[in-house]
Amino acid sequence: MNQNEPLLVTNCAQLITLAGPTRPRAGLEMRELGIIPDGAMLISNGRIAATGPQAKIEKLASADVQVVDANGRIVLPGFVDAHTHLVFAGNRADEFEMRCMGATYQQIAASGGGIRSTVRKTRAATEAQLVAAGEKYAKWFLAGGTTTIEAKSGYGLTVEDELKLLRAIRSVAKNTPLRCIPTFLGAHEIPEEYRSDSDAYVDLVVKQMLPRVAKEKLAEFCDVFCEEEVFTVKQAERVLMAAKQYRLGLRLHADQFTCCGAVELAARVGAKTADHLEQTTSEGIAMMKRAAIQPVLLPASVYAIGSQKYAPAREMIDAGLAVVLATDFNPGSSPTTSMLMVLSLACTQMKMTPAEAMTAATINAAHSLNRGQELGSLEPGKIADFVIFDAEDYRELAYFFGMPRTVAVFSAGRQVDLCPVL
Ligand code: NIG
Ligand code: FE
Repeated sequence: MNQNEPLLVTNCAQLITLAGPTRPRAGLEMRELGIIPDGAMLISNGRIAATGPQAKIEKLASADVQVVDANGRIVLPGFVDAHTHLVFAGNRADEFEMRCMGATYQQIAASGGGIRSTVRKTRAATEAQLVAAGEKYAKWFLAGGTTTIEAKSGYGLTVEDELKLLRAIRSVAKNTPLRCIPTFLGAHEIPEEYRSDSDAYVDLVVKQMLPRVAKEKLAEFCDVFCEEEVFTVKQAERVLMAAKQYRLGLRLHADQFTCCGAVELAARVGAKTADHLEQTTSEGIAMMKRAAIQPVLLPASVYAIGSQKYAPAREMIDAGLAVVLATDFNPGSSPTTSMLMVLSLACTQMKMTPAEAMTAATINAAHSLNRGQELGSLEPGKIADFVIFDAEDYRELAYFFGMPRTVAVFSAGRQVDLCPVL
């Protein structure tokens, strides 16, 4: 299909527009999906021209319009996955087996495995190999109905290896229809060679990595893994304050295993998001509210490490926070690209409603990446990233679980070829 030709999407049992104010949706607003029953959508030049009841929209279409028949199914914005570790070499199926036999994620990390084992493999990989791996996973994301992701570096941990990862992310974005928004995560783990002097590694991140990342315009955001045994609040603050000087937006892995002051730090430095938050308390929630931080919740990483401690999503929504849901796709704690799995976990384990979960996975996620003007909802003027799912009602997406449901995926009005996944 030619991107420039007008497109008419018809017979949508529900056109889930997420139309609303141009800002993240908070509290009860998260339940408003702007659903048009028996809806249709007109697309021109890769952007949405009009949405509305079918009878009305059909009249606006020109005679030569190409018709996409949703055939009584639902149509919604492509998912925006606001927290992924897209590019890495190898995988950790061996550690997965160890965890099945009783070892914990943190024990494996403390004994030199975990992130550091992926770092060893990633350092040994060429940029072309990393691009190939990233492209494979990009196809998985697209096949699941995700059209935009945030993609972090963080498995290189040397100047050249971090740049290699960010360049690989840039290539994946160029070579595939998946939109990738890059985040520099040089402070993801303390590498082997700096174990006895983590401050010297923070120096390297601040004085050598960040200037190169900024000069080559390789990232829009900077993130740090702030956690006991990883980076302290003080070290994370140094990295984030330096990143701010380079005008990068700030995100933070916070309160994943311990509640160690990371949310307070996120508020202090003006972070856009605080991510994970499994251990966050009511005080942390109040702080995020005051600082207008969007919490990014990652229930698949809780599920996959075999924990029961999910982030307090209900309390966050009830406090008026604009919650985001993401996969945290990575080879350790969350080996999934499936936003449908995340919706299921959000509803069954964190007691979000299906509507709240949809908002968190689309428009709120887009705002957390500074893309709320362009992506995350089906409104006139926005980029036509949308998905036809094999369902008649949006609630089915979180209800049925464990199988793909995508019928067709469109990026900027162009249908994505979902077949050659392997
Ligand atoms: O978000 N917590 C730190 N980073 C990832 C895990 C990365 C890995 O295990 O490779 C996370 O869970
Ligand atoms: Fe993560």
